[in-house]
Amino acid sequence: MDEDKVLKILEAFKKLRILVVGDIILDRYIFGRVERISPEAPVPVVEVEREEFRLGGAGNVANNLSSLGVKTYLLGVVGQDYGRHIIKGLLRESNIEDLTVEDPNRPTTEKTRIVALSQQLLRIDFEDKKVIEGNVLRRLLEGLDLELDGVIVSDYAKGVVCKELMDRIREKGVFFSVDPRPQNKSLYIKANLMTPNEKEAKSMLSQEDSLQEMGWKLKRELKLNTLIITLGPRGIALFDRDFKIFPARAKQVYDVSGAGDTVVALLTACALSGLDWDVACEFANVCAGIVVSKLGTATVKPEEILQSLEEGCRV
Ligand SMILES: Nc1ncnc2c1ncn2[C@@H]1O[C@H](COP(=O)(O)OP(=O)(O)OP(=O)(O)O)[C@@H](O)[C@H]1O
Ligand SMILES: [Mg+2]
Repeated sequence: MDEDKVLKILEAFKKLRILVVGDIILDRYIFGRVERISPEAPVPVVEVEREEFRLGGAGNVANNLSSLGVKTYLLGVVGQDYGRHIIKGLLRESNIEDLTVEDPNRPTTEKTRIVALSQQLLRIDFEDKKVIEGNVLRRLLEGLDLELDGVIVSDYAKGVVCKELMDRIREKGVFFSVDPRPQNKSLYIKANLMTPNEKEAKSMLSQEDSLQEMGWKLKRELKLNTLIITLGPRGIALFDRDFKIFPARAKQVYDVSGAGDTVVALLTACALSGLDWDVACEFANVCAGIVVSKLGTATVKPEEILQSLEEGCRV
C-alpha cells in the first residue's frame, strides 16, 4: 500500500455515516507538581498546573472516526452535571453529531487521573453502572432512527448496551460491529464484526483453548460474520473465512490505552468502504501504532498516517 492507496481510503471515509453507541466516558487529566507531604495526612500535596479533558470510551471511538473524515454520530448517556457540558463542547470541537441523552439519575461517567512527576498518583471514577431503562432508554432507541451506513457498539459495561438496544440495531439491518465486554457476551449475537482483546476473548469462553480454537469457537457460538482479536504488541488476529495474524506496527510505545477504540473505528470504516479484511487489518495496525505513541486516549490524523508511510512503516 502506498500514499495513493491511503488517500483513496481516506476519500472513501468521507462518504460514510457511522453512528457510535455505547458508554461515553469523560477522561480528565490533572497535571501538577509535588513538593511536600500534607500536614493533614501522609499523602503528597499536588499543586495543579493544568487540566485536560478528552473524549473516552464510545466518545474516543467517535473521535477516531471523525478525525479521519467520517460523518460521525455519538449516541449515549450523560448526567445533568458540569461533565455533560464539557462532553458537548468536545463533540462540537471534533465535529461529531451529538445525540447524547441526559439522565437526571446518574452522573456523567468520568475518570480523573492525577499526574505528577510523570506518573499517575491517583484515579478517581464517577460512574453509575445500572442498566438504562424507562424514558432514557426510549430516547436512546429513538437515536437509532437515522439513516446510516453502519453502527459501532462500544461497550464498557456501564449500562447503555442492553438487550433492547441490540435488538433494535439488529432489526435495523445495518452493518454493526461491537467492541465487547465479556459479561454482556450474549447481547452481541450476529454482529458483523466483534473486536475483543485476547483477555476479553478468553473470559467469554469457559475453557482454556489456543488462540485459534478460541477464535473459531467464539465466532461460531455468537454467529459472527467476522471476529478480530487484538493481541496488543503482537498485533491483530483475523477470523474470517481463514485465520491470519497481522503483526503490530508501533515504533514507540508510550501509552496503549484507547488503542482498541482506534482498531474498532478503523476496521469498521474500512469494511464499510468495501476494503477487504487484509487491507483493513494492516491499516488498523498502522493507525493503532500511531495512537500508542501518544499519552492517554488519542486519535490519528491523515497527515500522521502519510508521515508513518514515509518513515518506512509500509502498510
Ligand atoms: N505494545 C504495543 N506495541 C505495538 N502495538 C500495540 C501495542 N499495544 C497495542 N498495540 C496496537 O493496538 C492494537 C489494540 O491493542 P490491544 O490489543 O491492547 O487493545 P485493547 O486491550 O482493547 O486496548 P484498550 O481497551 O486500551 O483500547 C493492537 O492490535 C496493536 O495494533
Ligand atoms: Mg478494548
